[in-house]
Amino acid sequence: MTNTPFAAVIGWPIGHSKSPIIHRHWLAELGLSGDYVPLGIAPEDFATELRQLESRGFVGANVTIPHKEAALALADTVTDRARRIGAANTLVFRGGKIHADCTDGEGFLANLKQNAPDWDPAKGPAVILGAGGAARAIIVSLLDAGCPEVIVTNRTRTRADALASTFPIFVSDWDSRVDATAGCATLVNTTSLGMTGQPPLDMSLDLCANDCLVTDIVYTPLKTDLLKSAEALGLPTVDGIGMLLHQAVPGFEAWFGQKPAVTPSLREKVLAA
Ligand code: ATR
Repeated sequence: MTNTPFAAVIGWPIGHSKSPIIHRHWLAELGLSGDYVPLGIAPEDFATELRQLESRGFVGANVTIPHKEAALALADTVTDRARRIGAANTLVFRGGKIHADCTDGEGFLANLKQNAPDWDPAKGPAVILGAGGAARAIIVSLLDAGCPEVIVTNRTRTRADALASTFPIFVSDWDSRVDATAGCATLVNTTSLGMTGQPPLDMSLDLCANDCLVTDIVYTPLKTDLLKSAEALGLPTVDGIGMLLHQAVPGFEAWFGQKPAVTPSLREKVLAA
């Protein structure tokens, strides 16, 4: 065993993760000793292997698909926001215990605050397209940030209705998604529509408020058709790569002891990878 602190991103499969690039960039930039490695762990081995990581020198880990719910269930302590989101993405190992948090919603808000400083979530309704895990984290963050009305619209209505049974949100039919945007101050795409290789997101933005912030969590391509349509109407836009960068900040700080910065050079490095 070594004293060098290790962290990891755990998924199955794990090959595609950009998290090692982000954390290694910060370790080098801040001159800290430590490393951050990808770990592919199959679901059937997850519980056993997770419990062994601290004794192997790991101070914590990010967890990604398909382990986010299992990590929450296995943790000894859970932050309030992770419990409400129903998933964990950031684990800290200390004294034989696993502490779980979910930083996706914080990353979502921090990205918008950095790149659209005039945006105010409390200014008006927000419309969220999609009802998966990312939507859950974003709903919690917008409600906590004082958003007066959150409207969720999803192809499979029952998934949106299930969210409405947990959170004080409104649900709109997918076919009425354009009507749902009337006067909205924030529009978020959390579906996979518009991603390279996926169908396009067919969506008029004409009814949004004239200063509506439009953001997409899809970042391949970086400038999705949704963001292009918003720009053509003169609406402010923020692309999705920043959420990935910002969600990594709390974990790095917890594991390595310093708060890192999300800078243009980090962004360029991750986009180039
Ligand atoms: P995540 O947890 O990352 O948000 P997810 O749970 O797979 O991912 O959710 C993907 C979202 O994209 C869902 O809201 C999904 O809608 P359904 O709940 O109806 O599956 C949405 N989505 C994917 N393909 C879609 C399509 N062709 N048309 C409309 N919505 C789509």
